[in-house]
Amino acid sequence: MNIIIADHYDDLCRISADIVKDCVKAKPDAVLGLATGSTPIGLYKQLVHQYKSGELDFSKVTTFNLDEYIGLSPEHPQSYNKFMYDHLFRHINVPEEQIHIPKGDNPQLEDECSAYENLIRRIGGIDIQILGIGANGHIGFNEPGSDPEARTRIVRLSESTIKANARFFGDQSLVPRLAISMGIQTIMEFSRHIVLLASGEEKAEAVQKMAEGIMTKNVPASILQSHPNVTVIADQHAAQQLKKQSS
Ligand code: F6R
Repeated sequence: MNIIIADHYDDLCRISADIVKDCVKAKPDAVLGLATGSTPIGLYKQLVHQYKSGELDFSKVTTFNLDEYIGLSPEHPQSYNKFMYDHLFRHINVPEEQIHIPKGDNPQLEDECSAYENLIRRIGGIDIQILGIGANGHIGFNEPGSDPEARTRIVRLSESTIKANARFFGDQSLVPRLAISMGIQTIMEFSRHIVLLASGEEKAEAVQKMAEGIMTKNVPASILQSHPNVTVIADQHAAQQLKKQSS
């Protein structure tokens, strides 16, 4: 794991945007794996800026999002589909047909999961997978205890994730209990480069366990230790419990 400690959140966004930019410049038809949540918002802002200033062209890029809530339509204000269009897709030139987000309102959920998995495989995998990390060590919606061999599937959100995500819904009771998520094995096997972003003190313990703790399914992000190409970009707050401050 290569760990970069950014001075501030803005640096974290700039560093991660540069990694994405270099990838897309070198490979205009790059496949990007994307995350939602608060952490990558600044990265997406930077990518929009790079597109608008003519530095980046997304016309040949393909994207796959990590996860989506089950039961929300794409137009629902809290769907990850809407999040991605609001923060990124509506502002850049990636063609609609090259954007992939699991459909949480598909009545055939099992088919949706296997089709999603097959599509990533067929396209040849993911060049850069952006990840956030939950305070409980989750990646995607792979909660503590998730099978490291799991593929894209239906998952149940943990109580701590429901609580953490209630801030977007206004009330905890409105947070969906189920989601579709790429599995840990999907991420591990299909991603050529994983870029994990962590910001804020509330992520410090998870970052330390991910990078320096034992590999255990109880801290899903710790499984990333066995991936050959992971870059962690943490701001000072998220990095504060690391014993070794860079590697
Ligand atoms: C979202 C996702 C989640 C988030 C994580 C951190 O697509 O996969 O694993 O990355 O919950 O969320 P924030 O960035 O809101 O702290």
